[in-house]
Amino acid sequence: MRKPIIAGNWKMYKTATEAKQFVEEVNGLVPNAEKLDAVICAPALFLAQLVISSEESALQIGAQTMSEQDEGAFTGEISPVQLADIGVKYVIIGHSERRQYFNETDETVNQKVKAAFAHGLVPILCVGETLEQRENGETGSVVEAQVEKGISGLSEEQITQLVIAYEPIWAIGTGKTATAEDANEVCGIVRKKVASLYEDQTAEQLRIQYGGSVKPANVDELMGMEHIDGALVGGASLEVESFVKLLEAGS
Ligand code: G3P
Repeated sequence: MRKPIIAGNWKMYKTATEAKQFVEEVNGLVPNAEKLDAVICAPALFLAQLVISSEESALQIGAQTMSEQDEGAFTGEISPVQLADIGVKYVIIGHSERRQYFNETDETVNQKVKAAFAHGLVPILCVGETLEQRENGETGSVVEAQVEKGISGLSEEQITQLVIAYEPIWAIGTGKTATAEDANEVCGIVRKKVASLYEDQTAEQLRIQYGGSVKPANVDELMGMEHIDGALVGGASLEVESFVKLLEAGS
């Protein structure tokens, strides 16, 4: 019932030349958009170029962050208005690296999520616990609080369009993946939390991704889980071959 969504998060990797070449190679290999949403979230510098390069394919382009403001004297920032204007469709909000290194909080994350919707962008809201929190048995409560604060004030309809990415911080770029069962358990907690705040049917339509060392070798098992509707992928989205394998597994 929920359409799978595989999104690559390139972080601060690739030059504009490499990015364009990647998209040109991937274009013809992207499954039909009715089966799967395939997204590349690239550095802001070459988003406009990639939107043009992917025009003829089902590949969609996303940003990795944005300002919550529409415009203003905010040196270095990029606004949702600017992203929407060039044809960007998705935006990652509240990635743990943004929370850790750029002081993003649940409050700013919530403002950004709302700003994304206000301009027709689909937010991919990231949540996830640290290793210490997991070891202290706090995973459920940490993730529930991030979800509740992150989606505060959204309408039922917006929740059905939203994507939440569960990314345990200890699994990002470490080669350690949560087991499919653990990942599914936390994604189930996310859905249950949303169901406690919205209609059950709304929570059923919410798409939840898992992120953290997803690769072709483990994607099938993860995607086979009840509450996992896709993946947010760092390292394995950088090579055409592995990204395409992830798309094939998801479709
Ligand atoms: O947003 C995706 C990410 O943080 C996971 O990165 O390299 O572990 O797939 P990676």
